[in-house]
Amino acid sequence: MENPSFALVTGASQGLGRVFARALAARKQNVILVARSKDKLESLAGELKRSYSILAEVLVFDLTSQSTGSRLVQLLCDQYFRVNLLVNNAGFGVGGEFLNLPIARQTEMLQLNNAAVVELTYWLSPSLMEHPYAGIINVSSTAGFQPIACASLYAATKSFLTSFSLGLQEELRSSRMSAVTLCPGRILAEGRNGEARNGHRRFGFTYQSPGDVVRDALKSLANGGGIPGFVNKLSIFAQRLIPRRAVPALVARMSRQ
Ligand SMILES: NC(=O)c1ccc[n+]([C@@H]2O[C@H](COP(=O)([O-])OP(=O)(O)OC[C@H]3O[C@@H](n4cnc5c(N)ncnc54)[C@H](OP(=O)(O)O)[C@@H]3O)[C@@H](O)[C@H]2O)c1
Repeated sequence: MENPSFALVTGASQGLGRVFARALAARKQNVILVARSKDKLESLAGELKRSYSILAEVLVFDLTSQSTGSRLVQLLCDQYFRVNLLVNNAGFGVGGEFLNLPIARQTEMLQLNNAAVVELTYWLSPSLMEHPYAGIINVSSTAGFQPIACASLYAATKSFLTSFSLGLQEELRSSRMSAVTLCPGRILAEGRNGEARNGHRRFGFTYQSPGDVVRDALKSLANGGGIPGFVNKLSIFAQRLIPRRAVPALVARMSRQ
């Protein structure tokens, strides 16, 4: 008998990654949860096993460490885990002027948002390809569609990720594997029980609930990949109507508001 297949979700200890893990488990998909916070991962794994009768494994792993991709894939091989879906979700942004932020924190962001995604995708793809239905979901951001002052490097990491993911998607077109380039705008914080916490915000209509973001991503995966989400598609289109050189100042003004 073949070993069971798993979806591997990075950054599963909280936020969007946790919502991904719950949604996949609800679809009876076994999950491997990756992040650094052991307690949070174990508590989530326990909850998913009890609620959905699936297999939920925990891999405590720092994705900014050396040779991330090859080491993580070796760990999976050692435990005979077969992966049919990779969700590259772990990521963070640092806000503030580039020259005033510590360079160590910023290079950590480059490592997590970009290098870890590239390495994991490279090292895991050969075994993903062995499955009849395999996929990769790369969690980028609408931040990658334009330069953003005071989040210059974060926006650049997401621009890199979007470009990489869309190129990969095209390369995979004739294969059995599909890639989704997920570009959410601002996401509502998740409440204790997984519900989206609403608040009074400017431009409130641009916020999405984490549940909607994940639902769109999984729907897009089932349809063969792409950029999901109506609001995100609309914001990409709207930017085409504005002269490119005017965009950084406009975005900076909106962010200050
Ligand atoms: N929130 C938004 O409004 C928004 C909007 C657009 C795009 N996004 C993107 O969506 C993704 C998830 O965002 P989020 O808001 O859900 O983030 P979050 O709540 O801050 O969660 C980040 C996750 O990444 C993990 N992580 C951080 N550093 C890590 C490391 N060195 N090694 C392994 N895991 C690490 C964290 O777990 P540990 O700390 O336990 O390691 C955590 O599980 C990110 O890629 C983000 O850029 C978010």
